[in-house]
Amino acid sequence: MTISLRCISCKKEYPSNAVRYVCDCGGLLDVWHNLDELRPQVSRGLFDGRLSGPPGPKDVPTTTSGVWRYREIILPASPADIVSRREGNTTLYEHPKLSAYVGAARFYAKHEGENPTGSFKDRGMTVGTTQAKLIGARAVACASTGNTSASLAAYAAMANIPALVFIPAGKIAAGKLAQALAYGATTLQIQGDFDDAMRLVREVCDNLGVYLLNSLNPFRPEGQKSIIFEILQGFQWNPPDWIALPAGNLGNTAAFGKALYEAKELGLIDKIPRLAAIQAAGASPFYQSYRGNFGKRKIMKAETVATAIRIGNPVSYSRAIRSLEWTDGLVEAVTDAEIMDAKAMVDQSGIGCEPASAASVAGTRKLVAKGIIRPDQTVVSILTGNLLKDPGATVAYHTGDWPDARLANSPIKVEAELSAVQKTIEKIL
Ligand code: F0G
Repeated sequence: MTISLRCISCKKEYPSNAVRYVCDCGGLLDVWHNLDELRPQVSRGLFDGRLSGPPGPKDVPTTTSGVWRYREIILPASPADIVSRREGNTTLYEHPKLSAYVGAARFYAKHEGENPTGSFKDRGMTVGTTQAKLIGARAVACASTGNTSASLAAYAAMANIPALVFIPAGKIAAGKLAQALAYGATTLQIQGDFDDAMRLVREVCDNLGVYLLNSLNPFRPEGQKSIIFEILQGFQWNPPDWIALPAGNLGNTAAFGKALYEAKELGLIDKIPRLAAIQAAGASPFYQSYRGNFGKRKIMKAETVATAIRIGNPVSYSRAIRSLEWTDGLVEAVTDAEIMDAKAMVDQSGIGCEPASAASVAGTRKLVAKGIIRPDQTVVSILTGNLLKDPGATVAYHTGDWPDARLANSPIKVEAELSAVQKTIEKIL
């Protein structure tokens, strides 16, 4: 099966091993699959068979990874070349507390924080790193609000490729910084924000011949499409009505629309769910552009407690607009207070997530309240990252450092004496 890179604006094509991230015309690139050729080769049965079959020693990633299970419509790499940590296979949770909170009885949370490095980025990174190996990259790099850098650092270490990560100084959560350092990436703390880091890493990659593994690289969103394929397969190819996701740099929004379009074109599904891209109000350039019918592209200085999506100039802007067109999608914005309360609900239902992830839950709740999502509709929200990624935000919420923490579970100071401890517990039980 042949793939190529294709400009989403002018449709110019480039070979799949070209090291480029944008077209000569400046448009963003897609990995382009020939869907007519693919149609007779893929089916629900093919993918379902890989779920139930025993993994053989040679084909481990292609049967056990929730990304490579769908390799024909992601990257048809041969198993020997694949850099994989059995990513994906994440849980689709249902919890009465969460259903009641958002106001939709059939509410599900797909937990991408269960991936090997604790976020959905691993799905894109297994593909990006495999492609880096295939083209013989001398080094790989990314700008990041934290999760991409953690994932890149891990996968590059596995593949033995030097990694460079550009992060905004002082603005990434502790768990993510720890991962980048621990996995051995050269970590540059840029004295600026994510948008500055993004601008710089693009120039450095072009000038120094380093392979860029941000979601601007079209192979990254290909891997992230597998979140959608897993959801569809989890629902026996009978799609939910809505899929809500947090939106920052818009890589996932881009990937989800493409996955749904391709799944429909390939006959894997009969209807396309609607996408709801949710931004933090303080980092909502896509929401503001959407409100203006995308007449003018808005860029802003971003600020939010959800540092993962603290982005004012999202790279996949035009690919994300296309996703909304393909899925009759929409964009919503939620405040930091709404994000942190939704996170506390997710946490207190025993599932747990990092702040940015909870934007998708807060956004679902808002859309139900507005009457846009009906209470009888099936909704899947994507929890993009693990609770342990950002201990700082969580502890601040519960210890009084967060204004209006409606669901705070404050720690109780007790004397080191049995009677005092028992009296405190009796008051609570
Ligand atoms: N949720 C989490 C936990 C993230 O880390 C990100 C993005 C998003 C949501 C938004 O996804 O960018 O595809 O719209 N994090 C990137 C990073 C920017 O560098 O880790 P998006």
